[in-house]
Amino acid sequence: MNAHDSERIKGMLESLGLGEATAPEEADVVVFNTCTIREKPDTRLAAYLGNAGALKRERPDMVVAVGGCYAEAQRERIFQLYPFVDVAFGPGSIPHLGDWIAAGGFAVGRGRFGTHEHFAADLPMHGERRFQAWVQVSMGCNSACAYCIVPAVRGREQSRRPGEIVAEATRLAESGVREITLLGQNVNSWGRDLLPDLRTEFGELLRACDAVPGVERIRFTSPHPKDFRAPVVAAMRECASVCEHVHLPAQSGSSRILKSMRRTYDRSRYLQLVDTLRDAVPDLALGTDLIVGFPGETDDDFEATLSLVGEVRFDSAFTFIYSPRAGTEAASLPNPVPEAVKHERLESLVELVQRIAAARNAERVGRVEEVLVEGPSRTDAALLRGRTRRNTTVNFAGPAVAGDLVEVLIEESTSTTLRGRVATLVAV
Ligand code: 5AD
Ligand code: SF4
Repeated sequence: MNAHDSERIKGMLESLGLGEATAPEEADVVVFNTCTIREKPDTRLAAYLGNAGALKRERPDMVVAVGGCYAEAQRERIFQLYPFVDVAFGPGSIPHLGDWIAAGGFAVGRGRFGTHEHFAADLPMHGERRFQAWVQVSMGCNSACAYCIVPAVRGREQSRRPGEIVAEATRLAESGVREITLLGQNVNSWGRDLLPDLRTEFGELLRACDAVPGVERIRFTSPHPKDFRAPVVAAMRECASVCEHVHLPAQSGSSRILKSMRRTYDRSRYLQLVDTLRDAVPDLALGTDLIVGFPGETDDDFEATLSLVGEVRFDSAFTFIYSPRAGTEAASLPNPVPEAVKHERLESLVELVQRIAAARNAERVGRVEEVLVEGPSRTDAALLRGRTRRNTTVNFAGPAVAGDLVEVLIEESTSTTLRGRVATLVAV
C-alpha cells in the first residue's frame, strides 16, 4: 500500500509540473513516504532525514516533505523533532502536499491535515511497471490486531465504490496493463461498509474485474483469514484470470498467541481454510506473514508456529520479529520475549521456511508455467525475468519482450526463484 501511495505521490507531483530528479542533492522538493509498521523503518527514516537536514542547511530553498504512516503517528511531534521539515501529511491526506505546493508552499506556512478522507487511488498515477498495476479497493482497517499500528494511522475501513474500481481496471487494461493487484489493508472485507444499495462482497468484485477485457491476471493482497468466505473461494475457483496464489497472513501457529493477538481465528480454523482453498483451487501457491516474539510467546507457542509452517508447506513467507508500537494494545502486554530469544526464533523459522520453499520450487522443475515478462533479469542481462501465476520469479532465456505472456519450461530452482527457457509464445 505504501508503494502504491508513492506512485500516486509521484503522479500528483508530475501533474504539478515536477519531474523526478536524478539525485536527492539536485531536487527542489524531497518527499519521504514513510512506513511505521515496525521500528526499523522509523530508524531508517531518522538517518534519511538527518541527511536531508544537512542538505537543507546548504540549500534553504529546498522543500522537505514527510508523508505516510510515520508522519500520521508523529503528527504532534514531527515539526518539533525535525524543525526543517516544511510540510507533513498522513496517508489519507496525500493531496494536501499538492494543495500546499500549488498554493505557493512557504507562502502558506507549515502544516498538515490528518484526515482519512482521500483515496490515493483518485490521484494521477505514475506507474513504474507498464503491464502491472495496483488497484486500491479500500483504505483503513477495522480489525484490532493487538500488535498493529495500521488502524491508528490509516483509520476505519472505507471501501471504494465498485463502479470506480472496475472503471479503473478497464482504463488500465485499455492502456496495456495485463495484471492487476487489488489492494486493501484487509482486502476481502471490502464492500461491507458500502450503502445498502451498493452492498456487495469481495467475490463479486473479483468476478467484475475478471469480466474486464484485457485483464489477464488478477491478484489481491492482503486477505484476513477471518473474512475469507465461501463466495470469495468460489470466485477464485471460477474466474479464469484470478491467479492461483493467496498471501494469507497466519501471524502465529499457536491458538493461544493468536487469541492474544486478537486475530479472531485459531490454528485449526486457519488450517481448515487452507484445506478449503486447496480443494477449490488446484495447484494453489500459499504465502504468509509470521511474527516471532510476541509478548508471552513460549517455546511451545513458537514450536506451534514451526509446526504450522511444516503442515501447510508455504511457498513463501515474510517473517518478522515482533516490534512494539506505541499506542497499540500489545505494547503494554507483560512478558516481553528477550531480544536474543526473538533472534534465535527468527533464525530457525527462516531456515525452515527456506527449506520448504526450496522443496516446493523444486517440484516445479520439468513443468511448463505461464510467465508474464517484466524485463531483463536482475542477475544476468542475457536472461529475461517474469512471474508465474503462482507468483514465483522466473529468470529465463528466449525470445520475448516485457508484457508478453509466455510458456516457460522450468529447468532449475532455488528457494526464491526458478530458471528456465521459453517453450512457446502464448499471446501477444
Ligand atoms: N511487529 C512485527 N510485525 C508486524 N506486522 C505488523 N505489525 C507488526 C509489529 N508490530 C507484520 C504482520 C503483518 C505485516 C504487514 O507486518 O505480519 O501481516
Ligand atoms: Fe493490521 Fe490486523 Fe488490520 Fe492487517 S488486519 S492492517 S495486521 S490490524
